Amino acid sequence: MDKYSKIGIFDSGLGGLSVLNTLEGLLSKEGFIYIGDSLNAPYGTRSKEEVFELSKKICDDLVSKDVKAIVIACNTATSAAVLKLRDMYDIPIVGMEPAVKPALRQSEGQVVVLATEMTLKEEKFLKLVDHIDDGYRVAKMPAPEWVDCVENHLHDEDFVKNCVDSFLDEKLPSAQNLVLGCTHFIFLSDYIKRYYNDKIELFDGNMGTALQLKNTLESMKLLLDEDIYQASELERIEIYNSKSDEYVEKSKDLLKTLKRGK
Ligand code: SIN
Repeated sequence: MDKYSKIGIFDSGLGGLSVLNTLEGLLSKEGFIYIGDSLNAPYGTRSKEEVFELSKKICDDLVSKDVKAIVIACNTATSAAVLKLRDMYDIPIVGMEPAVKPALRQSEGQVVVLATEMTLKEEKFLKLVDHIDDGYRVAKMPAPEWVDCVENHLHDEDFVKNCVDSFLDEKLPSAQNLVLGCTHFIFLSDYIKRYYNDKIELFDGNMGTALQLKNTLESMKLLLDEDIYQASELERIEIYNSKSDEYVEKSKDLLKTLKRGK
């Protein structure tokens, strides 16, 4: 492992592609290997032990591909496994953190954190909220149905709109500032904003994670400062998915869409 190695990144499926997009924007000379575990998605409805085992298997795979760092681009896997995984590997492992801090800083009144049940009930999140929310402004709202919506139905705009609207109708009909504490949900941002006629702010942890990775690589002198992938754009990002080649193609298309800023 040296600075020329790629950065490994994984998620339970497609959600982490939004993190990959942010990482790529910030660390544009780096190479990336992305593994989506769509075969086993969603992680949020599994036991903590299962999520740890699935995450460890992917980390082993990434380490065998000689990555210099791993980004857990999944809030659920971060909650369930990051501390144990950091003890097991000698490369830096960076996880996700729901963007509660910026949300509290930049808004008045309540902020609602949308995530999986596991993320919301695990110690990591509870400690975070305990530490920074002295005004009891943070509310929690599990939204497990949104994971499947992104994972399997993103191509069907009517389906997605109905999924987002019916959830918000039932659970959060009035406009609130929202923290997207699951990387899948970032793909629903436009639908959520449209539901509230743009009268809300959405916060996610992608840039926080990307900056943390950048600082870590910098301090370990592992940041790539040469453009070694310039000649072949294709090789810079490798994408794998445990479910099928169709999901690999789907991932590449989604990443292109994100890059176009749509
Ligand atoms: C899931 O797989 O259930 C959600 C992934 C996440 O929390 O980011």
